[in-house]
Amino acid sequence: MSYTKEIDSRRTFGIISHPDAGKTTLTEKLLLFGGAIQTAGAVKSNKITKSATSDFMDIERQRGISVATSVMSFQYGGKQINILDTPGHKDFAEDTYRTLTAVDSVILVIDCVKGVEEQTEKLMEVCRMRAMPVIIFINKMDRPGKEPFELLDELEEKLNIKVRPLSWPVGEGDQFKGVYKLYDHSLNLFSANKQKLSDDNIQIEDLNTEVLQQHLGEQHADELRENVALIEGVYDPLNIADYNAGNIAPVFFGSAINNFGIKELLDTFVEIAPTPAPRPTDNGEIAPVHPKFSGFIFKIHANLDPNHRDRIAFLRVCSGKFERNKFFFHVRNGKKLRFNNPYAFMADSKAVIEEAYAGDVIGLYDTGNFKIGDTLTEGEKYLYQGIPSFSPELFKELVNLDPMKSKQLEKGIRQLTDEGVAQLFTYSLGNKKVIGTVGELQFDVIRYRLEHEYSAKCTFTPMMFQKACWLTCKNKEKLAEFIRIKQNMGYIVYDKDQNPVYLASSRFILDSEMQNNPDIVFHLNSEFKLQAV
Ligand code: G4P
Repeated sequence: MSYTKEIDSRRTFGIISHPDAGKTTLTEKLLLFGGAIQTAGAVKSNKITKSATSDFMDIERQRGISVATSVMSFQYGGKQINILDTPGHKDFAEDTYRTLTAVDSVILVIDCVKGVEEQTEKLMEVCRMRAMPVIIFINKMDRPGKEPFELLDELEEKLNIKVRPLSWPVGEGDQFKGVYKLYDHSLNLFSANKQKLSDDNIQIEDLNTEVLQQHLGEQHADELRENVALIEGVYDPLNIADYNAGNIAPVFFGSAINNFGIKELLDTFVEIAPTPAPRPTDNGEIAPVHPKFSGFIFKIHANLDPNHRDRIAFLRVCSGKFERNKFFFHVRNGKKLRFNNPYAFMADSKAVIEEAYAGDVIGLYDTGNFKIGDTLTEGEKYLYQGIPSFSPELFKELVNLDPMKSKQLEKGIRQLTDEGVAQLFTYSLGNKKVIGTVGELQFDVIRYRLEHEYSAKCTFTPMMFQKACWLTCKNKEKLAEFIRIKQNMGYIVYDKDQNPVYLASSRFILDSEMQNNPDIVFHLNSEFKLQAV
């Protein structure tokens, strides 16, 4: 197969949702339909059910972190589908944001009872920032939920994206009869059956046919006629270019647990989802058809075996061909590296691969060479951009409890933050370190791993900050002056790349600083580095 054929056959996407909307169930059902697994239950949930008191091993166990579940690949409709798993728990939101840099589109799962939830909004913000194509799956239609038109309005309003239903539900809860597929004029009748993989489709070109009553009863048939007329009147037909530009999201209704609505979702996904997209580097965009291999690391997974320090780095191939045992160039540190056992991930296993193409995600054994965002090439010297850091919401000072182990602590905290467990900020004077996270759980993870992997003991002292903003300003003197004043007050720290960061103790204070300093740009994520290119 030529490069172009390989690239055209790849569809790499992420499934995102607020916890409990049905992400794990949908992932599993997609794998079932794709023939990648034979029975339900093969995909482990990465939900964390316990409170912040869990220790790290508990967290890992509950997340069911087996590397195989982080990426799942299967063939469907002649395409190679790569699903990237994202943790639903909000404490691991940064992990999800980073994973989104490695996909070309997403499927967003919404619970029809709860509608748009807090985490859904945050995740969509990230998708919008990257103009990511989104398909929405409204799940749990077997339960009495919100009215479908109300749900669509809520999606448009809260997620700030136009929507276009491609299927329409008939009834809901125990009266749920099925969906009418607006794009091919057929009726898919619902039956609660967790094992069924085929749909009961009935072609209905003209909704006025008597056949509709026979299947749905008079009342539901009339409702469907009315609703379809309304939809076709209000919503424009789906424009694929608008979907690809992230301006409009097609919407499906179904019930993942009952295997219902999955096939139409998958069939449409295969038809419209984008092929691997070009990605920005500090030297312009690199297209997937670029003949030389390149890729970047978007996730690093610590090995849980305490006897080995090995980690697995997840690489998204962006161009050319990755080959086993070939030397590649690690651009940041100028090293040549080769990989004996690069992995591809199937639904419930992993296998050594010989080659991989743009859109693929592979696992590389790492003995500490990689940090998140690193670029590998065939020798070309450019760096992939745009693995964002987001403003953390919790800040604590790292306190060393064993002065004899300062070196281990220093090394440990650098490596763990390279893995993306949390963000490390340092005050310019002295070596006071601030750890910023999006959730309490990360502090447990850090404490546990520093102790067990680096023999370093630490504790954390809470700090009163709530937001961190990266600072830029066209007028260098003005920025230096602001930093000088705020530094004396303890509000300026530096990230690992020595970018100045302002710590604000409340949103109110941040807003007033923004007002008082209109020339200075306060960035709530590090994406500005990308814009600066
Ligand atoms: P998540 O990964 O997004 O967190 O959600 P997950 O798939 O784990 O689903 C959350 C709960 O919702 C599960 O129930 C799951 O069985 C249920 N669920 C998923 N899809 C549907 C659906 O179409 N209809 C209904 N009624 N329920 C659905 P649970 O009780 O938390 O877990 P379990 O004991 O069923 O595994």
